[in-house]
Amino acid sequence: MYQKTGKSVKVVSFLPVKNVKSKQTVAYLVLYEDNANIQSILYNFKLISLILFIGLFLLVYLFYLQFIRKKALKETAQEQEKLLELFDKGDIALFRWHNDIHWSVEYVSNNVVSLTGYTKEAFLKGEIEYPDLIDAEDLQNALHELTEAFEKNLDILKHQPYQITTKEKTKKWVEQTTLFIRDEKGKISHFLGYLIDVSKRKKLETQLQQLNEHLKEEIEKRTSEILQKDKMLQEQAKLAAMGEMVGAIAHQWRQPLNSLNINIQNLDDDYEEGLIDKEFIDEFIDKQTQTINFMSQTIDDFRNFFRVDKVKQDFWVKQSIENTLSLVNAQLKSHNIEISLQGEDFMLHGVEGEFQQVILNIISNAKDAIVHNRKEYGKIGIRLKDKKIIITDNGGGIPEEIIKRVFEPYFTTKEQGMGTGVGLYMSKIIIEQNMGGRLHVSNTKEGAEFIIDFIKEG
Ligand SMILES: Nc1ncnc2c1ncn2[C@@H]1O[C@H](COP(=O)(O)OP(=O)(O)O)[C@@H](O)[C@H]1O
Ligand SMILES: [Mg+2]
Repeated sequence: MYQKTGKSVKVVSFLPVKNVKSKQTVAYLVLYEDNANIQSILYNFKLISLILFIGLFLLVYLFYLQFIRKKALKETAQEQEKLLELFDKGDIALFRWHNDIHWSVEYVSNNVVSLTGYTKEAFLKGEIEYPDLIDAEDLQNALHELTEAFEKNLDILKHQPYQITTKEKTKKWVEQTTLFIRDEKGKISHFLGYLIDVSKRKKLETQLQQLNEHLKEEIEKRTSEILQKDKMLQEQAKLAAMGEMVGAIAHQWRQPLNSLNINIQNLDDDYEEGLIDKEFIDEFIDKQTQTINFMSQTIDDFRNFFRVDKVKQDFWVKQSIENTLSLVNAQLKSHNIEISLQGEDFMLHGVEGEFQQVILNIISNAKDAIVHNRKEYGKIGIRLKDKKIIITDNGGGIPEEIIKRVFEPYFTTKEQGMGTGVGLYMSKIIIEQNMGGRLHVSNTKEGAEFIIDFIKEG
């Protein structure tokens, strides 16, 4: 055993080292075995192998990554090429240009030739500058849009469509979208943009606009025609109401005229009989004046009814209906028709004469139905309830197959000269459009029921 550094080793053999000349042993070479060292060598060997292995693996992996990256790059390049090919062959021209004084073109797709008539090379060599193609006024606008986009710090700008003049001197409408590309300092270094030929769309838009204008004119023409027709209908409805009214007045006057006639006729006999003295004359004048006043009142009511100054105002429903009834009372009596008005009064807002026209028309229709059906005892009832006016009759009602049509203009079942068919149409317009109410009809057991409803929905 050989002892050194306090570590014990096992000596395997001694080798004497001799001087070549003297043949004297000058030293010994000791071969020894160090167990711990062998283990550590073994251990180190494993470690190195592992490191080598990991290193190798990493290397392979790096190569693999590199390979993948290259492949991906190649694929991206291919994709990009395809994309550019798409622009070359498609309808959208792609531009990339520098933010310099000439806006020098860095890239432009082939199809720029079909848009502008100038080749890609002409742009790349700077023989032609794209802004020169834009119409002067449009260019001003486009530059204005650009300045505004800069000020707002936008990244993308979609210009309003503008016109360009191609090499062949034709005009085209173009829509341009530009992306601002900035350098590390945030300064715009490039622009990337595309141009679309929107001439066809613009042409269609112009056509559409012209068509719209034409349509507008047509609508205005038709509206004025309809208004004209409506005015005519209004006039007709008024005339019809007036006709009905004159019929009513004729009845209203028949009796007082008769009595005036008889009284005047009798004057002769009264004189013969010596009945005429001052008292007689005073009484006579008084009586006849009453009759004349009544007739005069009828005329006043009639005039009120057809007043031309159509002023909207608040009025009491009951009074208004009573005034209308006073005009038709005599006529209804002559047909043996009883009319009643009951319920709570309420206020309405509108042109009173128009409202009375509606009431008169509904009553006249009821009277016509009663007369037509030869009812011996005619009955017309008017009830006021919760802002509703309900008018019923016992004239037999409206046949179900025509009930939906009674509000149509010119719809009448009456003989020629007896009906115009505008009464209910105008009544509906007056109630629904002029007064904000609703007018419906339905049948009861005995006849028709018209409801004028002023209750606001909701
Ligand atoms: N109370 C009613 N009873 C039966 N039918 C009616 C009644 N009111 C209206 N009608 C029907 O509705 C139609 C249209 O009425 P209207 O518009 O006033 O026009 P016109 O009275 O001139 O015929 C009438 O011709 C009639 O057939
Ligand atoms: Mg009528």
